[in-house]
Amino acid sequence: MKCIALLSGIILVLGVAGCDSGSHPKQTVDYPEMGSQAFQNYRALCSVCHVPPRTTTHTAAQWPSVIARMQQHRVERRIAPMAADRMAAVREYLLRNAARER
Ligand code: HEC
Repeated sequence: MKCIALLSGIILVLGVAGCDSGSHPKQTVDYPEMGSQAFQNYRALCSVCHVPPRTTTHTAAQWPSVIARMQQHRVERRIAPMAADRMAAVREYLLRNAARER
């Protein structure tokens, strides 16, 4: 009997802890290929001024012009422009995971 009381106590604690972590939705945002080099590069280059957008906010046809505009924002703010190879890697990452054309 004591054992069951102890067990339900543990379950209660775990349950509360589970609810608590649910109150931080920011940490549950999922990006594709998380943990890959491509994602690391994307996060590094696209989190300087704002939260990196989800890859599905634009289609493959739209992303290149958005990336070009972000390069302009860097220059305007005197932040070193993205190197061509890293910019190409960001473009490939976004195009691979972009929203489908409608
Ligand atoms: C130097 C600062 C800066 C960096 C770095 C930056 N952005 Fe932005 N971003 C902005 C500003 C300012 C806006 C709002 C004005 C605009 O839309 O151009 C914006 C808006 C956006 C938007 C919303 C507008 C739209 O067209 O949907 C997207 C998406 C976006 N950025 C993607 C990116 C991506 C992808 C990268 C990495 C390649 C990036 N940003 C890096 C400054 C930056």
